[in-house]
Amino acid sequence: MSIAVLGAGSWGTALARMLARKGLPVNLWVYEEELAQIINDTHVNSWYLDGYEIPDNLTASNDIAAVLKDATMVVSVTPSHAVRPVWGQCAGLIPPDVPIVCCSKGIEIGTGKLMSDILPECFPEHPTHLFTYLSGPSFAKEVAEEHPTAVVIAGVNDEVVAKVQHTFRTPFFMTFTNHDVRGVETGGALKNVLAIGTGIVEGLGFGHNTRAALITRGLYEMIKLGRTLGADAITFAGLAGMGDLVLTCTGGLSRNRQVGLALGEGKTLQEILDQMNMVAEGVKTAKAVHELMLKHKINAPICHAVYQIIYENKPPAEAVKELSSMELNEELGAIQEKQLLQPEG
Ligand SMILES: NC(=O)c1ccc[n+]([C@@H]2O[C@H](COP(=O)([O-])OP(=O)(O)OC[C@H]3O[C@@H](n4cnc5c(N)ncnc54)[C@H](O)[C@@H]3O)[C@@H](O)[C@H]2O)c1
Repeated sequence: MSIAVLGAGSWGTALARMLARKGLPVNLWVYEEELAQIINDTHVNSWYLDGYEIPDNLTASNDIAAVLKDATMVVSVTPSHAVRPVWGQCAGLIPPDVPIVCCSKGIEIGTGKLMSDILPECFPEHPTHLFTYLSGPSFAKEVAEEHPTAVVIAGVNDEVVAKVQHTFRTPFFMTFTNHDVRGVETGGALKNVLAIGTGIVEGLGFGHNTRAALITRGLYEMIKLGRTLGADAITFAGLAGMGDLVLTCTGGLSRNRQVGLALGEGKTLQEILDQMNMVAEGVKTAKAVHELMLKHKINAPICHAVYQIIYENKPPAEAVKELSSMELNEELGAIQEKQLLQPEG
């Protein structure tokens, strides 16, 4: 077996290193040529995951064709806005029997497409049952530290999903399976927007009541959008839903929460982003989610408020005041009315 990992940010590096430590040969595609050299010379990715030694059986390269050559599994871990250009470079380089594991979390601005919509568009000849999606509560640094971690592998084909599950399984990395690709993907994307929201209320000085309210009402918005996009409601009670939502909305390592904290404390988005070399997916996803909510006429006041704060310079305190004074009705009314909790079919 030989694994190609595309993307050497913190998550790509943590996963590639974990697979290499398992003894698998890993080739890591690095966007920045200089960083590929640094990783090969020093055996550390000092730009995105400093302090964690990378084993000899992991080779870094900026040459995507060389990385994909002879790969028996491809693991894609770029930020979601980079998937189209990166997958575009892979055209014709991945044989039709190779599973592709997508680990990016996000929704495309302008199209509202999930990664599971974009993947078949970029690889039209590739059998779709070979596409799988890895998601769940997992900070890269804690995976590098080998803290017990549980994630979910979503896909439609049992055999393919099981193969990916066993490839990633380690004594500390638990890989559950799930057939609900839409649910797993919607959860992974929306939690980043909601983490910005929880950061904002914390930055404004509000406490645990406010945070718990936002997480729970945010989950309701996640279920409403997810069900509209074809997800099963029960998925949101799982690792890619509630699990990742709790992690990202409360964890100190969450970049999206940090963006929110700084916004709540009065910094501008530009000031915040200028100080980050990493990607906070929620900033872009907030726009994509806003577009989707408008398109499907879904009432999602928290996602809407995050969008207004980021893209319309609405003062955070004003947005929270408006949210707190909204008209109140049946707690889970929209879901019950539209029978959104019923399984498909
Ligand atoms: N960091 C985590 O703990 C974590 C955990 C789970 C999922 N994810 C998801 O994994 C994906 C990657 O996140 P990350 O944290 O590894 O990224 P990161 O912020 O650590 O690094 C950004 C990466 O994007 C690359 N990049 C920037 N512009 C690019 C372009 N135009 N084309 C190709 N590559 C480009 C950079 O080289 C770098 O490797 C995201 O979708 C994120 O939501 C991250």
